[in-house]
Amino acid sequence: MASPTMLHLNAFLFGCGHHSAAWRHPNSRVEDLGDIRYYEELAQTAERGKLDAVFFADGHSVRDPAGAGTWFLEPITALTAMARATSHIGLVTTVSTTFYTPFHAARMLASLDHISGGRAGWNVVTSMFDAEARNHGFGEIPPRAERYARAEEFVEVALALWDSWDPGALVLDRAGMYADPSKVRSIDHAGTHFRVDGPLTVPRSPQGRPVLFQAGASGQGRDLAARYAEAIYAVAYDAEAGASYYTDVKARIAAAGRDAASVGIMPGLVTYIGSTMAEARAKKAELDALLPVDQSLRQLGMFVEQDCSAWELDAPVPELPPIEEFTGPHGRYETILRIVAKDRPTVRELLGTLAAGGGHATMIGTPESIADEIEAWFRGGAADGFNLMPPLYPDGLHEFVDHVVPILQARGLFRSEYTSATLRGHLR
Ligand SMILES: Cc1cc2nc3c(=O)[nH]c(=O)nc-3n(C[C@H](O)[C@H](O)[C@H](O)COP(=O)(O)O)c2cc1C
Repeated sequence: MASPTMLHLNAFLFGCGHHSAAWRHPNSRVEDLGDIRYYEELAQTAERGKLDAVFFADGHSVRDPAGAGTWFLEPITALTAMARATSHIGLVTTVSTTFYTPFHAARMLASLDHISGGRAGWNVVTSMFDAEARNHGFGEIPPRAERYARAEEFVEVALALWDSWDPGALVLDRAGMYADPSKVRSIDHAGTHFRVDGPLTVPRSPQGRPVLFQAGASGQGRDLAARYAEAIYAVAYDAEAGASYYTDVKARIAAAGRDAASVGIMPGLVTYIGSTMAEARAKKAELDALLPVDQSLRQLGMFVEQDCSAWELDAPVPELPPIEEFTGPHGRYETILRIVAKDRPTVRELLGTLAAGGGHATMIGTPESIADEIEAWFRGGAADGFNLMPPLYPDGLHEFVDHVVPILQARGLFRSEYTSATLRGHLR
């Protein structure tokens, strides 16, 4: 299988940063979360680093009103403003197929693609929380199989709506022909979940179809990605887990009859960058020290199904039972075992690692050592790039753009200039 020759990098924007205590840091911009200039500046920084895109996750419920310390603007609204403050960077947002309708999503994303001149991307997710479902008229989140069946039909309908206007359909001849009727058509979709006549109310956008990303790790999620995604946001704590996911999903893409090399797999990546390893570690320790300890230990107790309240914070994590003996949910527990095996953290360090990105790859070190690790994942078949998750915004993004990107560029692993004006062009 041919591999891409260049890394792909997105900046995953999230409140004050991906560390849950980031908002308490003196450099956080917690007062500015409703100020669009904050997001515009982050997008401009990412564009200065020639990143592929800025990326927003999304959610439809407030999980911890008193403790989370972070909220975010509705992503498409924010990206529309950010489009006007930038010229090249891609603008990717998460849109749930469980809570939107395909017509609504296709219309908004096509509009963003028009406004940005071809830079819109859609991260397809099926959502996960009952609290979100209860904001949308459901009693609870529908079962996974049902969500993915709806997601598949949703994507098909959105693609059909985007194709309901052919290229060149708008004639705009003032002599009397506005659009060529042979190039605009209804889609007449009548399926299990949706009935949509079409055509879309928005004519064909610059990219034709905004770029599809996908995030969702189950077999059904991977198959959806294999059939439709042009890039994938994945989760892997270490290169071994990354390579196993990568090999599996690339095989599924090939089995779906598509070119596996053309679909970029981008795990989340949390970085702590210092001019020395000690400085990088101190940055993590500074954020970890801001965590509410009792609450974090209670949460850890739920993940490992034992009482951790008496665990000594600055001692190594006590021996944990192997996965075969663990009766609770495996996903998060397996991640904790991997973190302990790879990093041998103290209890406090483990709480901090879980508080920033959960189970996502975490690299701590100098710009050179982090560039080495990124290169090793890339060349080792574990990633085609990364969805960057700085623990603290804006500092973490500045550090990456100013210190890590130039090393990747010097090694020929990352673009020095944009060669395209569209998101799809960047991902080629
Ligand atoms: C890396 C990753 C990122 C995700 N981001 C979001 C998100 O921003 N919003 C959302 O509602 N769901 C998100 N999801 C959840 C998926 O939509 C999906 O509902 C959930 O993971 C369960 O499906 P799965 O078992 O296929 O992973 C994400 C999942 C993964 C693995």
